[in-house]
Amino acid sequence: MPTNGEATMKVFVTRKIPDAGLSLLKKEFTVDVFPSDRLPTKPEIIQGAANADGILCLLTDPIDSEVIAAAPRLRMIASYAVGYDNIDVAAATRRGILVSNTPGVLTDATADLAWALLLSAARRIPEGDGYCRDGKFEGWAPLLMVGQAVTGKILGVVGAGRIGTAMALKSKGFDMTVLYHDTQPNETLERELNARLVPLPELLQKADFVSLHVALSASTHHLIGEAQLRMMKPTAVLINTSRGPIVDETALIIALREQWIFSAGLDVYEHEPRIPKELLELQNVVLAPHVGSATIDARANMARMAAENMIAGLQGRLSPNCVNPEAYRKKSRG
Ligand code: DGY
Repeated sequence: MPTNGEATMKVFVTRKIPDAGLSLLKKEFTVDVFPSDRLPTKPEIIQGAANADGILCLLTDPIDSEVIAAAPRLRMIASYAVGYDNIDVAAATRRGILVSNTPGVLTDATADLAWALLLSAARRIPEGDGYCRDGKFEGWAPLLMVGQAVTGKILGVVGAGRIGTAMALKSKGFDMTVLYHDTQPNETLERELNARLVPLPELLQKADFVSLHVALSASTHHLIGEAQLRMMKPTAVLINTSRGPIVDETALIIALREQWIFSAGLDVYEHEPRIPKELLELQNVVLAPHVGSATIDARANMARMAAENMIAGLQGRLSPNCVNPEAYRKKSRG
């Protein structure tokens, strides 16, 4: 039970998160956790948010202007994710509501998963696993499950923020040439890897592995569509651990089916949680259920960070990972 003056403040948590965060929140506020082990619907979010001072939400929750308008007491939205494309930040800012995210603590987990998908898609690991389990393995064969070499090849990183940078740095052990595409130069990549900043078409044409690490926005929606997929090498592998709508999934299905590219490794989907039947039927794509940050360490740290953001925001301080500090300034000006 909260013991201080914040006891009357209510925080709605849209799904059970690790105790590392929940216990911090419970010390300060009255906490309502959405009771079912499934995603809440939008009406359920609206209902939970109706008398809440803070919402701790997941990347799957649409915190749009309707939800915000239905929550008259709302002062803080703490997202349990680094990406916050599910939140109408402009609508929150207009009301002086702080929005925060959880950067940094999931960087390595997500970069590691990009590598797991890259190696799996290059070396056809899930396909081989299914082959063994189906009892089809009858002995070593020169052409059995041959895939793409990784060591010494060209890695193309699209989006050189925290996760893109970590993913690229992990290529050191594979002795790769690194190209990257971003709106600004990345000194770390240039110093550590001799990486070269190139236009997206050049990256797509030259890279053997293309790994996507951009945030979803109007300008990155369908950044990789038919034209871009056609620019890639037929031996190339596409990895997406960012957000599904960055890739035009219909175009990708055709590209994989017609082998414009060798394979893909996906952790995210255009209309999550729906994965098109056509993708499920293809062998040359490795599918993961949006688990980029799903390590015990990362998830506990995300919970702690989201709770700390919430506590700071509701106690009138600027949350450490506030993505709209102008809302705080607005509030402070009164
Ligand atoms: C995020 O935090 O945005 C990730 O997608 C979670 O896995």
